[in-house]
Amino acid sequence: MKRRKFVTAAAAASVAASASETVPVRSTPLRAGFWGTQFYDDKERAELLDVLESRSPFRWYGPGKPGKVLQFEKEFAKRMQSRFALGVTSGTAALQVAVAALEIGPGDEVILPAWTWHSCYSAVVLAGALPVFAEIDTSFNIDPGAIEALITPRTKAIMAVHLQGNPCDMDRVLAIAKKHRLRVIEDCAQSAGASYKGRPVGSLGDIGIYSLQINKTITAGEGGAVVTNDPVLFERASRFHDLGGLRGPHQDLLGKASLDWIPGANYRMSEFTGGVVLAQIRKLDTIVDAVRGNARRVHEGVRDLEGAKFRLLPDPAGEIGAGVFLDFGTRERCDRFVAAMKAENVGAGKPGGSAILPTVPYVMAKKTIHPGWPSFQSPRGKSIRYGPETCPRTIDILGRFGGVAIDPKYGRKDTDDIVAAIRKVYRAIG
Ligand SMILES: Cc1ncc(COP(=O)(O)O)c(C=O)c1O
Repeated sequence: MKRRKFVTAAAAASVAASASETVPVRSTPLRAGFWGTQFYDDKERAELLDVLESRSPFRWYGPGKPGKVLQFEKEFAKRMQSRFALGVTSGTAALQVAVAALEIGPGDEVILPAWTWHSCYSAVVLAGALPVFAEIDTSFNIDPGAIEALITPRTKAIMAVHLQGNPCDMDRVLAIAKKHRLRVIEDCAQSAGASYKGRPVGSLGDIGIYSLQINKTITAGEGGAVVTNDPVLFERASRFHDLGGLRGPHQDLLGKASLDWIPGANYRMSEFTGGVVLAQIRKLDTIVDAVRGNARRVHEGVRDLEGAKFRLLPDPAGEIGAGVFLDFGTRERCDRFVAAMKAENVGAGKPGGSAILPTVPYVMAKKTIHPGWPSFQSPRGKSIRYGPETCPRTIDILGRFGGVAIDPKYGRKDTDDIVAAIRKVYRAIG
């Protein structure tokens, strides 16, 4: 083991030992679960049985009268205060649909945060466009102050990714987009149910996307959705997700088709998925209220800790509360916190669920599925460099913040234990 690592590990172990010299806060480990699945009940069962018994698992036709996906789209659009919603097979598919709807392609650049999920990067590259990374701030989201310096005449869109339930500073992102005539894609994969200044995330930019995968607020295991207020974007999205055509029910929503066929993919949601996410969208507010309540109890219980600095929340009322994170000033101190919390049987960790993409080897190497891929053929595509040296602030922030994940099903004893463990460990690590 390298000496520095060894010293850190030894220090962490000694803090863990001294913090729990008495009795650990919990006798058994506390673990957050998969939110949406914990709320599965007869509602999801009934929806699934409907599809099964009607023998109509395809959204557009079948022996019965399919309509789950369509109904989900209707209710999802209403909940997200958007004119249109489209159900798709995943959040990754939703991003590709959004990028295609905005006609982003070769020669275009898209600004996205250095800390986000692979799908954000791959959606841009698969369209033949060039991803340009911006540093994050202590909200763990794109730093609006870092965006303008990255804009070139080829920049077409900003991807505002609302990570771990925390909305981006949308006033600033939207002002920059307006000033430079850029489109805004909101990636709400990790934040369905969050809002910014009273508006659901996803409804503020040009187009918003969500994931319905198991780690997300509501879920059918896999699934995704796209929302927009713009009929042209909706028509392009619907066409791209369904081989380029426009089916009757979506044509009815639009009044008339105004575009022609385009080559598209097949990202159609099945009726089984549609049924489950229909039951789940009706529970979204219950789930979010429960997580928020628990996160607030934890925050209230630790906010007076001396010198405590928390994750930046651009709209504390709209944040979901997926985790409560503290700034420990250094990576070493944060590592000591995480190790000592484990000894208390209250798991803690660094921010998770995303990757520092500019440091990921295939990104650094600018790998594509074909050597002639357009993304990196332009002069700027050829010269652009990724790597840790391009995002030092992102690496620093994610190294020094640590926190605890919050679950909607935690009871008062669980949140009391989290508070007790944080207070005990915070004092012990000095
Ligand atoms: C920020 C973000 N965007 C997009 C996705 C892609 O969603 P999916 O897993 O449903 O394809 C994820 C998934 O974790 C995500 O975290």
